[in-house]
Amino acid sequence: MLIHSASQLLTLAGGPQRGHELGRLGLIEDGAVLVRGGLIEAVGPSAVLRAAYPNEDLWDAGGRVVMPGFVDPHTHLVWAGDRAQEFEWRTQGKTYTEIAAAGGGILATVRATREAPLETLIEQARQRAWTMLRHGTTTAEAKTGYGLTPESELRLLEAILQLNQEGPLELVPTYLAAHDVPPEFRSDPQTYVDQLCTEMLPAVRQWWQTHAPGRPLPFVDVFCERIAFDLAQSRQILVRARELGFGLKIHADEFESLGGARLAVELGATSADHLVKTPPEDIQALAVSGTVAVALPCTPFGLAQPEYTPARAILDAGGLLALATDLNPGTAWCESMPFVIALACRYLKLTPAEAIAAATINAAAAIGAADRLGSLEPGKQADLIVLDVPDYRHLGYRFGTNPVLRVMKRGRWVV
Ligand code: NIG
Ligand code: FE
Repeated sequence: MLIHSASQLLTLAGGPQRGHELGRLGLIEDGAVLVRGGLIEAVGPSAVLRAAYPNEDLWDAGGRVVMPGFVDPHTHLVWAGDRAQEFEWRTQGKTYTEIAAAGGGILATVRATREAPLETLIEQARQRAWTMLRHGTTTAEAKTGYGLTPESELRLLEAILQLNQEGPLELVPTYLAAHDVPPEFRSDPQTYVDQLCTEMLPAVRQWWQTHAPGRPLPFVDVFCERIAFDLAQSRQILVRARELGFGLKIHADEFESLGGARLAVELGATSADHLVKTPPEDIQALAVSGTVAVALPCTPFGLAQPEYTPARAILDAGGLLALATDLNPGTAWCESMPFVIALACRYLKLTPAEAIAAATINAAAAIGAADRLGSLEPGKQADLIVLDVPDYRHLGYRFGTNPVLRVMKRGRWVV
């Protein structure tokens, strides 16, 4: 199929974009893209491609923007229930950490998730997956982390595998049994950390080899924060995960800086996420490393907190910056990458072009998939979206409505 007459075809060609390179859209005016067998075969001006492929089925983009599907590299997609009550408390002045300390927060969702049958978990996550697709996300990372026992965390991995199998949203799994200290270990968190390292991580690897043979192992992630795991515990878990062959991610510096960003660099993590309270030295260390800095502007927005990731400082220092939703029931129930872009243009001071690159090719790098996702280049997966706008800058500029008209996943229209 030849998709033609895009007012602007954004290819995002040329690989992940570092520092001030961010925002290289590879824009082709009156552009076209040839899709065959689920892959991109060619991109170029409409006139050139129509002449070169005269017998191809045509799809007229009608003067709209065509670009790669969004990659959302940080979501907590699978959970049961909601925390609307906690949101109301926050509007009345209670803080997220106060609510968490009183047994709400992540542990409230852990209780609901442990009780839910697998089918219920899948059904609730499926609804969100379709909302993500309708908002232009074609691939998302998905974390466990609301089970916090060996069995319930594997059940969450199972839900992610089943949803990925079912499609069309492609899911890249992350094992986040270190999301919080489970209620059973509140008085002795270190015992849980030890169990995670000696029993749970090796068991996950084995489980994966029988349930998803041949597929790359999930990432392993840790919530490195005073209200969850300290720096030494985070290091212990991530070092063990690395020994076992897992790729690494970390939740660092969301509320306080414990040194998680620097730890990510030291261990060669694929990404370090949140980075709101990150000190300048750690920004510098991150920016010269291969670790992608993932900013999650829905989280401070969702908590009505004034501080956001210092994205300009990360770019000035030459870092790799990506954007994600952080979709979760506590701080950021948001499935929309267009909304993330709108926030990033305001609070992270990104231009629309920078935010688009951070939400596509760099987001693919944040899940280790920039070689096959995140841009429209020959040989890459045909994951693309059509925006019902004439100019890419409407992303960012407009917010609160959905600009996405059509979504193609692996060469098939799914929205
Ligand atoms: O990224 N970091 C922890 N996880 C989420 C919050 C999860 C929750 O409150 O359920 C976050 O903000
Ligand atoms: Fe998160």
